[in-house]
Amino acid sequence: MSRRAWAYVAGGAGQGRTMRHNREAFERWRIVPRMLHGVRHRELGTEVLGTALSAPLLLAPVGAAGLVRPDSDLLIARGASAAGTAYVFSNQGCQPMEDTAAAMNGTPFWYQLYWSTDEPLVDSLIQRAEAAGAAALVVTVDTTLLGWRPQDLDLGSLPFARGEGIAQYTSDPRFTILATERAHRTSAEENGITVGAISTLLAMSRRHPGRLLDNLRSALPRAAVQTFLDIYSNPSLSWEHLASLKERTVLPVLVKGILHPDDARRAIDVGIDGIVVSNHGGRQVDNAIAALDALVTVREAVGPDPVVLFDSGIRTGADLFVALALGADACLLGRPHLYGLALAGADGVRQVIENMVAELDLIMGLTGVAAIAGIGRDHVQAAPVGAHH
Ligand code: GLV
Repeated sequence: MSRRAWAYVAGGAGQGRTMRHNREAFERWRIVPRMLHGVRHRELGTEVLGTALSAPLLLAPVGAAGLVRPDSDLLIARGASAAGTAYVFSNQGCQPMEDTAAAMNGTPFWYQLYWSTDEPLVDSLIQRAEAAGAAALVVTVDTTLLGWRPQDLDLGSLPFARGEGIAQYTSDPRFTILATERAHRTSAEENGITVGAISTLLAMSRRHPGRLLDNLRSALPRAAVQTFLDIYSNPSLSWEHLASLKERTVLPVLVKGILHPDDARRAIDVGIDGIVVSNHGGRQVDNAIAALDALVTVREAVGPDPVVLFDSGIRTGADLFVALALGADACLLGRPHLYGLALAGADGVRQVIENMVAELDLIMGLTGVAAIAGIGRDHVQAAPVGAHH
């Protein structure tokens, strides 16, 4: 990866403490193998909100993956599809959702929604996701502002400001109206020309739909980036916004980024169908609680029935097993699939998934669990106090 790509993908908020806490939390839970159980065949398939999953694992939405490889979202979709794994498309994706949907080749996918300050844009994105065949919406609520990310800041890098990760917007009819209006308003403005400005303009024009030469002559690519930066997210997002989704979509809705049990209960109360416990892979608030610790309190708060997914810190099949034992119905995998993408494109994505699922399968065999629903609290134990990790 380039330095910019690595900073964005591998980087986290502040001093990286939340990322570390996410991993350390897994060290505090240990799997209890069982013997002579006679379990020979394991079934890893499961269902979440009407979506059939071949294993309790989905690819998480990751924005600006085009930093890692051109055609990123299409390659991720092909890798996911080859592994029979569902993929949550990023709202900050690098290809229009319709193209990524085609690359899924029939394997289920969900769509992530960032709530724009422009409500017609919210509706347009939802309608496109429904029309493209998404089986659920995942509203990310922990990124109404982008966190403090020193790795990116040190390089002066914000992918979106160069037009990386705004393909869902530049392919959107409502967004195009807004960006075009802005281009008309600003094309007469004088702009100071510097080498940096030219390089940014070139980057934006390359990524904007259409021919590079036309884009360079047009005020639209720059206006699109500026419009995106203005409206992509709504810092005053509230429970009322969320509650309005019931009338705005036929799809099941999950809310991603929940860490407090009261927020989890509230989400269920306003009619949300599922919760994704996540601290955004430690990218938002430094020194936040580990997502795995939040999973325990959230599951306790909502009881056994509501759908609770887990994200932030999964790196192995053993981690998957622990999260399922602590109450997750399925898990989302973020950075690791980007590393597979970097190393070997679609095939790298497929291999990352298959290695992880293979380990989960073996651990089920070695703990005597025949089906995903059978993985429970009895299969894990808190590490003794003071034990070395
Ligand atoms: C955006 O969601 C990010 O984590 O960079």
